[in-house]
Amino acid sequence: MSVRDVLRGIIGIELDENDPFGRPARRRTLDISHNVILYLEDITVSFDGFKALNKLNLTIDAGELRCIIGPNGAGKTTMMDVVTGKTRPDSGTAFFGQSIDLASLTEAQIAHAGVGRKFQKPTVFERHSAFGNLELAMTADKRALPSLVARLRDEERDRIADTLRLIGLGGEADRPAGLLSHGQKQWLEIGMLLMQDPRLLLLDEPVAGMTDDETMRTAELFVSLAGKHSLVVVEHDMAFIEALGGRITVLHEGAVLAEGDLAAVQNDPRVIEVYLGR
Ligand SMILES: Nc1ncnc2c1ncn2[C@@H]1O[C@H](COP(=O)(O)OP(=O)(O)O)[C@@H](O)[C@H]1O
Ligand SMILES: [Mg+2]
Repeated sequence: MSVRDVLRGIIGIELDENDPFGRPARRRTLDISHNVILYLEDITVSFDGFKALNKLNLTIDAGELRCIIGPNGAGKTTMMDVVTGKTRPDSGTAFFGQSIDLASLTEAQIAHAGVGRKFQKPTVFERHSAFGNLELAMTADKRALPSLVARLRDEERDRIADTLRLIGLGGEADRPAGLLSHGQKQWLEIGMLLMQDPRLLLLDEPVAGMTDDETMRTAELFVSLAGKHSLVVVEHDMAFIEALGGRITVLHEGAVLAEGDLAAVQNDPRVIEVYLGR
């Protein structure tokens, strides 16, 4: 696997084939003048006639921390696949900010525009240190791949150290990622995403397999990221969702069943019927 493949596949950075130094193209400015970072309208995705998403409408505000819940098969992961460009909808529109039509961009271009995605399984570089993982993620961002072998500037070291502290790995900088706990690997991967300075973070079941303590620390991390970043978090863990404290969207059969704060969705008979009551 070449560095180009690694960056494209795992971190989502697209290198410019025409640039001799392999520097990625400059990020487009994101227009959030209407305070909306993600706008999905009437998105339908069919698999062999089965509608995984059925005229889904979803609006995420800039800086918002949104939770998505719903039964298995509701379309939560498919929704994220549409936003990242992995799956193309049969119909409907998807905008990132006011002016970026996601249908016009490749998967790599969407990532580069500022959409970061965390999959369920952590994909860190096991043999590199925690610091080294963030260094690799950052190096791609500052458009200077040759400096993979060059010395880091002080401010770059500081930025990596700050991010390690933020994700609770301040004391694990030199530890090979392969030796970190499952929860720590998840945080490290979030740190790698953060080195790309994403505007929108999509997190699919981020606390699956974590201890209760790790789960609550992840909630604190996400709350601290909101504002500067927008977050869309898919989870089943209701204690975690409560700790996040954000607005909740309930998906069912590919569409929005309910939306509101925790108390509102917990008391909604339709939500109890299809999800919470089970
Ligand atoms: N690539 C695919 N091919 C066929 N069916 C799929 C594919 N991806 C998802 N589905 C189906 O679409 C529905 C929604 O799946 P998914 O988005 O993964 O749900 P969730 O994440 O809410 O559990 C499920 O019935 C699933 O089996
Ligand atoms: Mg899923």
